[in-house]
Amino acid sequence: FYLLVFSALSVVFVVRSISDCADFLLNQSPPQIPNILKNGKILDQIRYKPICQTYRNTRTFLTLYDTEERIPVFSAIKFVQDKKPGNRPKNRKWMIEPQASNSDYKNSVRHNRGHVCPSAYASNETTKASTFTLTNVVPQVITFNSGSWEKMETCTKCFMEKFCKNNNGAIEGFVVTGAKPGESKLKDHVNIPSKMWSAFCCYSTSKKAWLASAHWSENVHEPKNSYMQTKTLKELYKELGKNYFLSISYN
Ligand SMILES: *[C@@H]1O[C@H](CO)[C@@H](O)[C@H](O)[C@H]1NC(C)=O
Repeated sequence: FYLLVFSALSVVFVVRSISDCADFLLNQSPPQIPNILKNGKILDQIRYKPICQTYRNTRTFLTLYDTEERIPVFSAIKFVQDKKPGNRPKNRKWMIEPQASNSDYKNSVRHNRGHVCPSAYASNETTKASTFTLTNVVPQVITFNSGSWEKMETCTKCFMEKFCKNNNGAIEGFVVTGAKPGESKLKDHVNIPSKMWSAFCCYSTSKKAWLASAHWSENVHEPKNSYMQTKTLKELYKELGKNYFLSISYN
């Protein structure tokens, strides 16, 4: 079932393993996620599906999807220079897919569809559009989504544009963003994550060093003007629990 067609509208490319879609990971190395992903091997292959997000025949980013909780474990993208700085598409049609459905998110006053891989990190319209898939979305508390989380996405993007230049002078960074499943569900159907996290790394020619940092926060209501603190990858691993490891830790 490597190509699953769920409706006339969408095609989901479930690949055999993460290594079939590893170009979005630094050195093509998948993260280590306790009880889920170990040395590139998905431990429960019925429950967790690697998805090579594909739109208009273009591979755009990688998602590891939890079919039981109906949310991604993580999405990974390679950040490159904007061809022409595009805006977030207005009134973007959400691609309808299996597992979760738009009606799960309808009329929710507390949560909306939070992107895991942000559309802002996509370098062109095809990739941007492809982030609007329910396999890249979690129920995110509205104030958090449009508050500190959005600010963090913007700041990280700015930082990467400024410092993440590879040896060819091109902007290049690797971002992995994930959600930790919580205890409750939206409409008894889609897991509401307790926490969301994001980490990036890149080589910086100007600093002649690998740069990396991480952010995370509880998926809860927050007051206006909240900010997320920038942390190290080590601190992120500690926060997420033993044996987490993103293959983006360079010192
Ligand atoms: C858009 O970006 C993807 C990578 O995400 C790339 O493979 C593709 O060639 C790009 N498309 C255009 C039209 O530049």
